[in-house]
Amino acid sequence: MDANGREVIFSPLRFRNLEVKNRIFRSSISGRFDNEDGSITQTRINWESKFAAGGVGAIISSYVPVMMEGRIIAGYGTVHRDAYIPLWQKLGEAVHAHGAKFIMQLSHSGRQLDLPGIHNKHRIARSATSTREPINGVPCQAMDKAEIAQVVKAFADGAWRAREAGLDGCELHSANGYLFTQFLSSGINDRTDEYGGSLQNRARFLLEVIDAIRHRVGRDFHLQVKLGGVDHNNVMPWDKVGNRIEDAVQIAKWCEAAGVDAIHVSSGSSFPHPLNPPGDFPLDVLSTTYDTMITSGDFGLRNYLMFRYKLLRPIFHWIWFRLKKGHPVEGISLEDARLIKQSVSIPVIVTGGFQHASVITDAIHSGACDGVSIARSLIANNDLVKIWEQGADQPERPCTYCNRCLVNAPKNPLGCYEVDRYDGDYDRMIQTIMSIYSTHADLKIPAEEGLLTR
Ligand SMILES: Cc1cc2nc3c(=O)[nH]c(=O)nc-3n(C[C@H](O)[C@H](O)[C@H](O)COP(=O)(O)O)c2cc1C
Ligand code: SF4
Repeated sequence: MDANGREVIFSPLRFRNLEVKNRIFRSSISGRFDNEDGSITQTRINWESKFAAGGVGAIISSYVPVMMEGRIIAGYGTVHRDAYIPLWQKLGEAVHAHGAKFIMQLSHSGRQLDLPGIHNKHRIARSATSTREPINGVPCQAMDKAEIAQVVKAFADGAWRAREAGLDGCELHSANGYLFTQFLSSGINDRTDEYGGSLQNRARFLLEVIDAIRHRVGRDFHLQVKLGGVDHNNVMPWDKVGNRIEDAVQIAKWCEAAGVDAIHVSSGSSFPHPLNPPGDFPLDVLSTTYDTMITSGDFGLRNYLMFRYKLLRPIFHWIWFRLKKGHPVEGISLEDARLIKQSVSIPVIVTGGFQHASVITDAIHSGACDGVSIARSLIANNDLVKIWEQGADQPERPCTYCNRCLVNAPKNPLGCYEVDRYDGDYDRMIQTIMSIYSTHADLKIPAEEGLLTR
């Protein structure tokens, strides 16, 4: 081991049923690559493959709805039909060709939608609550027990399809404000039945899903849970306070007891949240992209006007940026991960701002986590792991945490929109972003050369 022990980053991480070649996971990054019906495309294969070619140990897929009603937006690949198993298999093979594992993120939006779309616009979103989502104002209706049972089954079926497709595991998207968070959060869940009230009751839905998955796929298939450390639930100053870290620790322990193989720590009761992804929030870009969301919820027009008119921007700026004070960007959830890791014996992965080999090395050696997941720094430099392997601590053109990738995502192709990283060359930036949008009649495994972007 060298002086600072950075070899740990490149050492395998062993889970109960899975070994990943290093400690770097590509965190989920959703974009609209896929077809309206939920079938995946060559563009998706190109997207996921370039991170695998760049050296990460595992890819955690973008948000994959287990049913059409659980989509955030049209154009996300789904896993709600057996007919899609061969397509996911192709994607898994493409990622495996680069020596990386592929973990599918099983998801349901509940009331947190971006663009409802034709498949779910005609029916009101189902949630743990009937209180509308506070940022965009998406209306919703609390699920009854029959509906809960239907969603539990959809998760189990999704996990089974992922296994049939030869994928390496599943992650339950139980963070960032989506359906699981809506059940778990003390600030959101206002039910009075056995799915609301005490923490145990609020965790019932998640634990039922874990149980149903274990019944459907057995104990041998890797299953991890992405969990908010602190959910905050504080974007709107009048919102009721959400779960604390003590709650997350308890939920993690229950997950472990229920047969989960790893915890992936995130934060926030919504996505985005001022602390997730951490960094800037470019309101000028939102003024050109948020128009797609004006009709998504009751507050869409109000928000759009705040982004569009410079005189109104300070209102939103205050709401959003007041919560960032005192929080680091790199390793923002590390201390939450440490507390969770101290309480469970399964591996813990943590997300949020990682870009320096030295920071990740320290995080692992200090016992805060076993590995990290990265989204934006890998969008900026797909081959970040290879850059670290060559000895650098950070890339020459690092991610600036500007969050332009994020606020473009509902409207525009996914990629790095920080034009300074392309020496101010706008055309080169767009060409780089569009490079994955090649189409083929059949799904193909792209060659490594020409795939990576920095
Ligand atoms: C454009 C974009 C899309 C994202 N989509 C998802 C998603 O589908 N599921 C998820 O759990 N997290 C999603 N995230 C959050 C990331 O996976 C990650 O946890 C977060 O950005 C913090 O990590 P980072 O600082 O390395 O970007 C997304 C982030 C970005 C920027
Ligand atoms: S747009 Fe590029 S630089 Fe900005 S946060 Fe996204 S990946 Fe990083």
